[in-house]
Amino acid sequence: MTSLIGGSRQPFCFLLVLLLCCVSASSLFHAKDPVDGLATCHPSHIQALAQFKSEFDSSSCNQTDYFNGVWCDNTTGVVTKLRLRACLSGTLRPNSSLFSFRHLRYLYLSHNDFTSSSLPSGFGSLNKLEVLSLSFNGFKGQVPSSFSNLSLLSFLDLSQNELTGSFPPIHNLTKLSVLSLSYNHFFGSIPSSLFTMPFLSFLDLRENQLTDSIEVLTSSSSRLQHLLLGHNQFERQILKPISKLITLTNLDLSFLNISYPIDLTVFSSLKSLTYFDLSGNIVSPTSLSSISGIPLSMEELILSGCNIPEFPNMFKTLHNLTFLDLTRNQIKGKLPAWLWSLPFLTTVSLFNNSLSGFEGRAEVLVNSSVQVLSLDSNNFEGALPHLPLSINTFSVERNNFSGNIPLSICNRNSLVVLDLAYNNFTGPIPQCLSNLTTLSLRKNNLEGSLPDVFYAGSSMRLLDVGYNQLTGKLPKSLVNCSSLEFLSVDHNGIEDTFPFWLKDLPGLKVLILRSNKCYGSISPPHQGPLAFPELRIFEISDNNFTGSLSPSYFVNWKTFSDKRNEDGSIYMIYKGKEIREAYAIYAHIDLRYKGLSMEQENVLTFYAAIDFSGNRIEGQIPESIGLLKELIALNLSNNAFTGHIPLSFTNLQELESLDLSRNELSGTIPNGLKTLTFLAYVNVSHNQLKGEIPQGTQITGQPKSSFEGNVGLCGLPLVESCFGTNVPPTQQPEEEEKDNEVLSWKAVVIGYGLGVLLGLVIAQVIASYKPEWLVKIIGPNKPKYR
Ligand SMILES: *[C@@H]1O[C@H](CO)[C@@H](O)[C@H](O)[C@H]1NC(C)=O
Ligand SMILES: *[C@@H]1O[C@H](CO)[C@@H](O)[C@H](O)[C@H]1NC(C)=O
Ligand SMILES: *[C@@H]1O[C@H](CO)[C@@H](O)[C@H](O)[C@H]1NC(C)=O
Ligand SMILES: *[C@@H]1O[C@H](CO)[C@@H](O)[C@H](O)[C@H]1NC(C)=O
Ligand SMILES: *[C@@H]1O[C@H](CO)[C@@H](O)[C@H](O)[C@H]1NC(C)=O
Ligand SMILES: *[C@@H]1O[C@H](CO)[C@@H](O)[C@H](O)[C@H]1NC(C)=O
Ligand SMILES: *[C@@H]1O[C@H](CO)[C@@H](O)[C@H](O)[C@H]1NC(C)=O
Ligand SMILES: *[C@@H]1O[C@H](CO)[C@@H](O)[C@H](O)[C@H]1NC(C)=O
Ligand SMILES: *[C@@H]1O[C@H](CO)[C@@H](O)[C@H](O)[C@H]1NC(C)=O
Ligand SMILES: *[C@@H]1O[C@H](CO)[C@@H](O)[C@H](O)[C@H]1NC(C)=O
Ligand SMILES: *[C@@H]1O[C@H](CO)[C@@H](O)[C@H](O)[C@H]1NC(C)=O
Ligand SMILES: *[C@@H]1O[C@H](CO)[C@@H](O)[C@H](O)[C@H]1NC(C)=O
Repeated sequence: MTSLIGGSRQPFCFLLVLLLCCVSASSLFHAKDPVDGLATCHPSHIQALAQFKSEFDSSSCNQTDYFNGVWCDNTTGVVTKLRLRACLSGTLRPNSSLFSFRHLRYLYLSHNDFTSSSLPSGFGSLNKLEVLSLSFNGFKGQVPSSFSNLSLLSFLDLSQNELTGSFPPIHNLTKLSVLSLSYNHFFGSIPSSLFTMPFLSFLDLRENQLTDSIEVLTSSSSRLQHLLLGHNQFERQILKPISKLITLTNLDLSFLNISYPIDLTVFSSLKSLTYFDLSGNIVSPTSLSSISGIPLSMEELILSGCNIPEFPNMFKTLHNLTFLDLTRNQIKGKLPAWLWSLPFLTTVSLFNNSLSGFEGRAEVLVNSSVQVLSLDSNNFEGALPHLPLSINTFSVERNNFSGNIPLSICNRNSLVVLDLAYNNFTGPIPQCLSNLTTLSLRKNNLEGSLPDVFYAGSSMRLLDVGYNQLTGKLPKSLVNCSSLEFLSVDHNGIEDTFPFWLKDLPGLKVLILRSNKCYGSISPPHQGPLAFPELRIFEISDNNFTGSLSPSYFVNWKTFSDKRNEDGSIYMIYKGKEIREAYAIYAHIDLRYKGLSMEQENVLTFYAAIDFSGNRIEGQIPESIGLLKELIALNLSNNAFTGHIPLSFTNLQELESLDLSRNELSGTIPNGLKTLTFLAYVNVSHNQLKGEIPQGTQITGQPKSSFEGNVGLCGLPLVESCFGTNVPPTQQPEEEEKDNEVLSWKAVVIGYGLGVLLGLVIAQVIASYKPEWLVKIIGPNKPKYR
C-alpha cells in the first residue's frame, strides 16, 4: 500500500553518476558502498554499460542493485560480471552493446522483460561465460546455434521463457554442471550426449513438449543427481534408461502421459534416490507392494493421482521418509499404525482418498514426529485421535468426525493451523485458540459461545466458525488479534450489536456476520465513515440491523495496488489485471451473487462485495458507495432504503451483480448503469421507481421480474412502453439535480483527503484453500524446484 501513496521511486540519474565516475572514478566510488562494484572498471566499459542500459526502459531498476550488479577485473578494468534482475524492459537487439563485453564470465539477467525478443546470436561471442542465466524474460523463438560456442559454461538457465524448437545445441558445452530449460516449448528428443557429460549434475527439463526415449549406456559416466522431466510427453521406454542413472538423488517424472501403469521396481537400481515425484502417472499396485518397489533411501515421495487403491505397506521400510504425498488416490481402509513410528516423518498429505480411520488406539499418533497432517476429503468418522505432540498444521476438512473437539489440542504448543471444517463435531469450542493463526470450524454442530480467550499478541489471521449453533456475543478479546484478516461467524445464533470495536484491527479484509440475530444500528456512533480501511468482503445480511448510512459511510475503505513482482512470485490474472498471489486469503465463503447463494470453492476470485440484505436499514444509499471501484456484488435488498439510486453507481465499473429489490427507492434508474459492461444481474423490483429503464444490453436482457412491482417503470424488458403514457419519457428533468449530487459526493471524498482517493482500488483474492493452501503451508519442502 505504501508504494501507491508513498509515490514513485526517485532514481538518481544514472548517466550523471557515470560521467562523474569518468572524471574521478576511484575517489568517488571507493567512498560509497553501493557503487563499489564499478570502482575497478575501465571508463570505456562504464560508457558501454550506460549505453546498454539506455537501450531499455530501466525505470523499474533498483539503482543500488544496478551498481552492485557490475564487477570489473581489478587489473584490466574489463567487465567480468553483470547481474541485473527485475530491471530492464524492452527488446534485446542483435547489435546490443551487451555483446561488447567479451570478457564476461558471469551474466545474470533473470526476471527482466525482454518480451518478444528472440535470443540474439551475439551471445555466442561471449565465449568466456561460465554462468549464464536468462530465466523469466519472455524470450521467444529458437536458441541460436552460436550457443555451441559457449564451451566454458558450467551454469545455463533458460527456464521460464517462450523458447521453442528442438533441443538447444549444447553438445559442445562439456563443462556444464547445471542446465535448466524448464517451462518453455522445446519439443523432440533429448540428446543422449547429455548423459555422458562429465560434470552435469542438475538437469531440469520440466514443462516442455519433449517426446521419445533416451539412450543411456550402462557404462555411463554420468554424474547426474537431479533429473526433472515432469510435464512432458515421453514414452514408457524412457524409464529403463533412467534406471541406469544410478547417481540420481532427485527424480521428477510427474505427468508424463505414459498410458501404461508404471512398474516401480524399474527404479530399484537408484539406490541414492531421496526425492521422487511420479504424480499424475498410473503406478502398478503390485510393484508398490514389492520389496524392491521404492529405494530405501527415499526421503520425499510424491505419488499424487497415481490410482493407488490401498496404503502401501512396503513404505514401512522407508526409514528416512520425511515427506509423503499420496493425495488424490483411491486409498481405502485405515491408516496403518506403523506410519506414525517413521522417525523423521514431518509431512503427510492424504487428502482426497477414501480412508475411514486409524489403526490402533486413540493415542497412536501422539509420539509421531509429524508436523503437517492433511486428511481432507476422506471418510474418517468417530472421535478425533490425539494429535502428535509436534503437530503444527492439522486439517481434516470434509470428513465425518464427530464428538467433542478434544481438549488435548490445548497442550499442542506448536499447533498453528487447525481445520476441522465440514464434519460433525459437537459441544463447545475449546478455550485455547489464542496461539493459532488459522482456525476453521465451519459447518459442524458446535454450540455455546465463541470463547473470549484471545490474548494480546494473538497471531490469529483467519477465524471461521460459520454454520454452527453458536450463541452469545462476539468476544471482545478479538481486538487483540491484530493480524486478523478473515472473520466469519455466519449462520449461527449470535446476538450482539454491530462490532464497531473491530475497527481497531488494521488488516481485517473479510467480515461475515450473515444469518445471526444481531441488532441495533450499523451507523457508527459519530455518524461518519465506517472505519474498516481494509475491508473487501462485508456481509451482514439476514440480521436485525437498523439505522441509516451516512453520506460518507464508505469513504475510508482503501486497499493496495501493489502489482510489482520483484521476488518472482506468481501473478494471477483476473479480468485482465495481474494480481499478486501473495495477497490471497484462502478460505470458503458463501457469496450471494446474481440472485443465488453459492459457496465459493476452488475458484480464484478477485473482488469486493457488500451484502446488507434482509435487515431494516433505512435512509438513502450513500453516494460514497461509488468509491468502491472494484465492487463486483452489491446486495441491499429487503431493507427500508429510500431516496434515489445514487448516480455514483456509474463508477462501479466492475459490478457484476446488483440487487436493490424490496426497498422504498424512488426516482429513476440512473442512465449510466447501462455503461456497466460486466453487470450480469440487476434486480430493482418492488420499489417506487419510475421512468425509462436504461436501454443497455446488460439491462434489457434481464427478466421482467427484475423490474416489476414499481410504480412507473417503462421500457424494455417491461412491456409498458415509455411513449403515449403519462410517465416521464426521458430523464432530462432530473439530470441537473443529479450532477449536483455527484459533485457533493466528490466533495465529501475530497474532505477526507487525497490519501483516500489514491488508495481506492479495491482488490482482493479469495480462494478456496485446498489444495493450493496446503502446498503453501508445506512451503519449504514441496516447491523445491519451483
Ligand atoms: C534496492 O536493493 C537493496 C538491496 O539490494 C535494498 O536494500 C533496497 O531496499 C532496494 N531499494 C528499493 C528502492 O527497492
Ligand atoms: C584483485 O582482486 C583479487 C581478488 O579479488 C585480489 O586477490 C587482488 O589482490 C586484487 N588486486 C589488486 C591489484 O587490487
Ligand atoms: C541497433 O539496431 C537498431 C535497428 O535494428 C538501430 O535502431 C540502433 O541504432 C542500433 N544500435 C546500435 C547501438 O547500433
Ligand atoms: C565463437 O568464438 C570465436 C572465438 O573463439 C569467435 O571468433 C566466433 O565469432 C564465435 N562465434 C559466434 C557465432 O559468435
Ligand atoms: C562444436 O561442435 C561442433 C561439432 O558438433 C564442432 O564442429 C565445432 O567446432 C565445435 N565448436 C566449438 C567452439 O568447440
Ligand atoms: C497423451 O497421450 C495420448 C496417447 O497415448 C495422446 O493422444 C494425448 O494427446 C496425450 N496427451 C497430451 C496432453 O499430450
Ligand atoms: C538414511 O539417512 C542417513 C543419514 O543421512 C544415511 O546415513 C542412511 O544411509 C540413509 N538410509 C538409507 C537406507 O539410505
Ligand atoms: C478427488 O479426486 C477425484 C479424482 O480422483 C476428482 O474427480 C475430485 O474432483 C477430487 N476432489 C477434490 C476435492 O479434489
Ligand atoms: C509415547 O512416548 C512416551 C514416552 O516415551 C511413552 O510413555 C508413551 O507410552 C508413548 N505413547 C505411545 C502411544 O506410544
Ligand atoms: C451428527 O451427530 C449427531 C449426534 O452427535 C447425529 O444425530 C447426526 O446424525 C450426525 N450428523 C451426521 C450428518 O452424521
Ligand atoms: C502460546 O504460546 C506461548 C509461547 O509459545 C506459550 O507460552 C503459551 O503457553 C501458549 N498458550 C497456549 C494457550 O497454548
Ligand atoms: C427484530 O427486532 C424487533 C424489535 O427491535 C423485534 O420485534 C423482531 O422480532 C426482531 N426480529 C428478529 C428476526 O429477531
